[in-house]
Amino acid sequence: MSKTLHSELDYKHSVIDVKKIDPSPYQHRRHFDEDKLRELAASIQREGLIEPIIVRPKSDRYEMIAGERRLRAVRDFTELETIQAQIVIASNLQARRIAAAENLQREDLSSIETIEAIAEIVDAELIEDTQYASMGKKPANRVKTLLGKLDSVRRSEKLGYEVASEAKLTSNKFIGSVQEIFKDLPKPMKWLSFYLNDLPLLMDFCENVQDISIKHNLNKSQTRALAKLKEASDGEFQRLTAHAQRPPNSEMGYVSSDSSQINVRDLSAREIEDIADKAAKKERQTELSRARVSPSLSPEAKIFMMNRLGIPVDRIAARLKVNRKTALNYVHNSRLFQSIRELLEKGVSVPEVSEHNGCPEPLVWSIALEGKSDQDRFESLNWGLRTWDHWYFNDLDQRFGDNWPGQIPAQLVAHTLYYFTQGGDLVFDPMAGGGVVPDTCLAFNRRCWSFDLVNRPETRPEIEPHQWNPEELLWPVPPKGRRAGKGKDKPDLIFFDPPYFKKQENQYTKDSISSLSRKEYLKFFKELFPLFREYTKAHARIAFMNADWRNFQGVAAVEEDPGQSIFLSDYIDLLKDSGWEITHIVDCPLSTQRFLPNMVSQMQKNRTLGIVRRSLIIGRKK
Ligand SMILES: C[S@@+](CC[C@H](N)C(=O)[O-])C[C@H]1O[C@@H](n2cnc3c(N)ncnc32)[C@H](O)[C@@H]1O
Repeated sequence: MSKTLHSELDYKHSVIDVKKIDPSPYQHRRHFDEDKLRELAASIQREGLIEPIIVRPKSDRYEMIAGERRLRAVRDFTELETIQAQIVIASNLQARRIAAAENLQREDLSSIETIEAIAEIVDAELIEDTQYASMGKKPANRVKTLLGKLDSVRRSEKLGYEVASEAKLTSNKFIGSVQEIFKDLPKPMKWLSFYLNDLPLLMDFCENVQDISIKHNLNKSQTRALAKLKEASDGEFQRLTAHAQRPPNSEMGYVSSDSSQINVRDLSAREIEDIADKAAKKERQTELSRARVSPSLSPEAKIFMMNRLGIPVDRIAARLKVNRKTALNYVHNSRLFQSIRELLEKGVSVPEVSEHNGCPEPLVWSIALEGKSDQDRFESLNWGLRTWDHWYFNDLDQRFGDNWPGQIPAQLVAHTLYYFTQGGDLVFDPMAGGGVVPDTCLAFNRRCWSFDLVNRPETRPEIEPHQWNPEELLWPVPPKGRRAGKGKDKPDLIFFDPPYFKKQENQYTKDSISSLSRKEYLKFFKELFPLFREYTKAHARIAFMNADWRNFQGVAAVEEDPGQSIFLSDYIDLLKDSGWEITHIVDCPLSTQRFLPNMVSQMQKNRTLGIVRRSLIIGRKK
């Protein structure tokens, strides 16, 4: 065994030319940290090389056996031309065993490299046996096959099953030496635990995960959690590891894009798992919302839904590129409406009716809740009706709105409708995103016209494409060429949930106001609020969702520059200057879970004060 190998061989101490040393064919190390190599080089220059490298002669040169890091440090980061070495005459197998044993002694070995090194030792010890050598092409494969056979015999015996004689023979032949090898490791361990808990990291995890694990020196649990994350969502995995300096970015998720500097290695396995769980949940939700609206809606469902939202037939026809008569036909003769109603009357559930008819669930709710009071609608939807100004931002109800960056809960919209509008009122959503406002309006019998930069005619025909261009703000109703809507075409409520300053910039399209500078962002609202005032009914309300923006990342609260921040009070001032009177400010707290424990302790250390509050500012015309 390698432990005794050194004493069996003759070593000669010498000083040799670094240029004459060739790499070892048995070196499997994949990552050399340059900073650490520099540190090592500096220490070698200060104190000399404490442990010589091991080489063997090959023609008129040398082949490396052990000490690749030391050689690289000297060769690449010092002026030294020679290095102290132990020269040993060793066969290939002996060289391999020395290399494997030396490798495992290293202190800076990552968990994956340690597993690789153990497999290498096991393989080097057994490779002369032809039966073993035929068990696979690579060392780790051979080790896995052998340990698998041993485990299978062990399990069968434990359960009292009869074991095939060939398998029994193999097990008897190898079990003793395998146990010995594992007992003799620098840190002895049981072969079974290696096979069940360690080897899968090397054999079953993709190379991408392994590379990150090695590069960041992750332990086994962190590596497992990282593999789980990769499986849950490749996107989140890339985000966490690509900018290894930063945690992932998700507004409704766990951390904001501009969070403090965290390296994946500073996250515990638990924290990585937490990210994986949330990513998996998000992926499932995406699937759900995709399933809800996809494949694209039928023309009948589109027209029926738009009509129920109070969108005029002309606009429906223009949006769907059908003639007015076709649109009118569907509106007046909706077989869909009959079918939905009949099924509901038979007691079929709303999700089932929705699935059966291939139409969105909120549209079915609009029929299921017909004739009910707002209060009854809250109850039927299983939502509490809050009588105080504290509406949670966390209670996303997946039945309403698509999975969208910055998606807000339907309950929050429903409360706004309840307190500030009446049945049949017209609600206007200028930046509708995932469509939670039109969906909630369907369930609460409000009309709703909604707009967004992003055009999704197949799944969200009710959200009309419109860009609020900061250079030239135009009111989208009525269509170009005519003057602004009169009377019933004017909104009773504007529900306005724009992208917050700097938040999720990379998740919105390039024309989004998220990419504006602080000055341009404020100017945008300064010009839009008066437009809202001009084109709404006399008694209209505005409900404006936003949050304080402070650049608090990594900064102590006392050192923040308020001149760089945007506060709710800034928006309030702009609203007031545009002729809106503030009547309510509703607190919409977010869960603090989005801050990982690690970030929290960092913030505590720095005296950094984060933001978890969103606010809904309600105004009316002065
Ligand atoms: C916070 S999201 C709205 C989310 C929505 N309330 C929901 O819950 O699904 C903001 C939306 O504003 C849109 N947007 C950003 N800038 C815009 C612009 N200049 N004109 C129109 N829409 C814009 C984005 O595409 C995004 O969908």
